[in-house]
Amino acid sequence: MAMERTLSIIKPDAVQNNLIGIINTQIEEAGLLIVAAKMLRMSRVQARGFYVIHQGKPFYHDLVAFMTSGPVLVQVLEAEDAINRYRKVMGATMFGNAEPGTIRAKFATSTKNNAVHGSDSLKNAKREIKFFFAQHEIYSRT
Ligand code: CMP
Repeated sequence: MAMERTLSIIKPDAVQNNLIGIINTQIEEAGLLIVAAKMLRMSRVQARGFYVIHQGKPFYHDLVAFMTSGPVLVQVLEAEDAINRYRKVMGATMFGNAEPGTIRAKFATSTKNNAVHGSDSLKNAKREIKFFFAQHEIYSRT
């Protein structure tokens, strides 16, 4: 399996609910290495740019409002097959469909307020990592 990096966001709902530690424990227990991290509050311009692929969808406006509502923790995770591995740890996006034990099964309160984001492809992971991090802010651990 190829060594990969993926972008994780612990979203405003999870930060507000004091879930950073428990989510990062689940990330680390799945063998994902945290190789970069920063807390920030996304501007409207940033949120619109980050989620540009969803522009025009009915939930886009609410998603931007939600993602700018408070601080988030953005992280780069590194592992073999990191993108799929993290998606399994997160669980399905649609509320109620996340497999038991996944982060979203435990902490999502709606399809929008779903505690975490993870890149869905290698191409998007590269774009999303670059969106938040310069090369020198990422510390390879493998
Ligand atoms: P995320 O993995 O960050 O990718 C896009 C986000 O849009 C998703 O998590 C949810 O927060 C939100 N989202 C996706 N689909 C819907 C939907 N049908 N209704 C509301 N929000 C959605």
